[in-house]
Amino acid sequence: MLGLGTWNSLDYQVGEAVMTAIDAGYRHFDCAHAHHNEQQIGLALRAMFRRTQLSRKDIFITSKLWNTFHRPSLVRLACETSLKNLQTDYLDLYLMHWPMAFKEGNDLIPLDSEGEIIFSYNDFVDTWMAMEKLVEDGLCKAIGLSNFNETQIERLLKNASIYPAVNQIECHPYLTQKKLKEFCESKDIAVIAYSPLGLPRNPFCNSCNKPLIQRKEITQLAKLLHKTPAQILIRYQLQRGNIVIPKSVTKAHIRSNILVNDFELTEEAMKMLNKLNINYRHVHFKTARKHPDYPFK
Ligand SMILES: NC(=O)c1ccc[n+]([C@@H]2O[C@H](COP(=O)([O-])OP(=O)(O)OC[C@H]3O[C@@H](n4cnc5c(N)ncnc54)[C@H](OP(=O)(O)O)[C@@H]3O)[C@@H](O)[C@H]2O)c1
Repeated sequence: MLGLGTWNSLDYQVGEAVMTAIDAGYRHFDCAHAHHNEQQIGLALRAMFRRTQLSRKDIFITSKLWNTFHRPSLVRLACETSLKNLQTDYLDLYLMHWPMAFKEGNDLIPLDSEGEIIFSYNDFVDTWMAMEKLVEDGLCKAIGLSNFNETQIERLLKNASIYPAVNQIECHPYLTQKKLKEFCESKDIAVIAYSPLGLPRNPFCNSCNKPLIQRKEITQLAKLLHKTPAQILIRYQLQRGNIVIPKSVTKAHIRSNILVNDFELTEEAMKMLNKLNINYRHVHFKTARKHPDYPFK
């Protein structure tokens, strides 16, 4: 239910972060090819398997298929690259990172001469079918989605033989995702909440939306419960039944973010946090907004 996020964890930081996290009790790691750090995570996991009693089966590893690998013939290769980098034979969960396909090739964000992203028009349903084969062949235990909207999930479900286990979406009190969560639940799809702390250092955060961890409502609640604002935001997701993956490379944060099972938010506190919703999205990927499968229209 609680994993370590690894986006923006630089390659010289992420190994130490993974090791600190394992020592602190984390067993779930949210990775992605596009994070550019899976190799360092693989090295850190191998070091921990040597140093502790833990083995691969004790750890839950997620990775994600990037947009330039949507063509069905590339899906297996993409998955094998992540397996190699993470030094494992299988992934516990493999997600389609976005419903949008980009031009195949070495650039993760292929740009034309005008600086616009070059799209590719593989249907995500065909990509999904290639991902299903990964489960059949034992490369992944489960597959799922990320950044998919309701209409896209509906269409995928009509054609899928393996149902997506999860939809990983941005979720925090500024973007509670009430409707999409209810829809996912009605289809037995679990929600993984990304950016659960509201990306405290997001440079794009505009001034009227104070970083969540500085909001008075949250800092006051944290003070009252002798907890940190981050712990409140993580606990909020768990009490909603969401899986949550806060990112950190700071030892003190990694250690404290997991200490969320010794308190409970009251119904009143949950209501107050829900009321902060303003449908404010940090990760909008606006440069891809012209893609026909852009999910946030
Ligand atoms: N599927 C997708 O498209 C997608 C998109 C975005 C994110 N994700 C996943 O979700 C994970 C989490 O989301 P995120 O990284 O966007 O944002 P986040 O977890 O909401 O915020 C991360 C930021 O919070 C800081 N932080 C962590 N713990 C803190 C604490 N206790 N007190 C104060 N600050 C704290 C971190 O700094 P320090 O490192 O210094 O602690 C970092 O700057 C990602 O890492 C990634 O794995 C997936």
